[in-house]
Amino acid sequence: MRVLVTPDYRTLSEEAAELIARSIRTKAGLTLGLPTGNTPLGMYEELVRKHRNEGLDFSGVRTFNLDEYLGPVRDHPQSYHSYMQARFFDYVNVRRENTDIPDGSPGIDANAECDRYESAIRDAGGIDLLIVGIGANGHIAFNEPGSSFDSRTRVVSLAPETIANATKYFSSEGKVPRTAITIGIRTILDARRILLLASGRTKAKAVDRALRDPVSESLPASALQLHPDVIAILDEAARG
Ligand code: PGA
Repeated sequence: MRVLVTPDYRTLSEEAAELIARSIRTKAGLTLGLPTGNTPLGMYEELVRKHRNEGLDFSGVRTFNLDEYLGPVRDHPQSYHSYMQARFFDYVNVRRENTDIPDGSPGIDANAECDRYESAIRDAGGIDLLIVGIGANGHIAFNEPGSSFDSRTRVVSLAPETIANATKYFSSEGKVPRTAITIGIRTILDARRILLLASGRTKAKAVDRALRDPVSESLPASALQLHPDVIAILDEAARG
């Protein structure tokens, strides 16, 4: 694993966007795995800036998001569908038909949707570059502690700390979805290259353990030690 420590969040965002831009320029039909949450917000802003000011071309890019809540309608303001539109897709020339996000809408056959998603990734030729954050509990995507390293896209229950952390986005803790669809640890490890992003003091302990502790299913992010091409970009605070 290569580890790059940046002085601050802004530089982390710029470095992440530059790595993605270089990958797109090298392979026009790049397939990206994309995260949501706080950490990648600056990266998306920087990618939008590169599209506007440097002509970064997303027209051949395919994207698969890592996860989605199960339950809220797709246009719920806190759904990851809404996040991706509002933060990224609406401002770049990615083709809508080249974007995919698990569908967690009410009434969906969730298990069939998981199978569809895993097949869609496979049919696209796999993910070239997957960007992922880390939870303070060591989760990656919504693979909570205890997730099998052989897991693929599936329905999961969110950990209590993940629900508590998401409460700030919903009107109350009771409104936070309890379940989600997430790609699995094996799906993540199948990506050709992984970019791990972590910012801030609250992530320092999880990052330190993920990078240095023995690999264990009790710490999902430690699975990244098993992958041959991981780049971790941390800001000073997340390095601890
Ligand atoms: P955050 O979430 O970017 O909002 O901190 C990361 C994660 O929980 O995976």
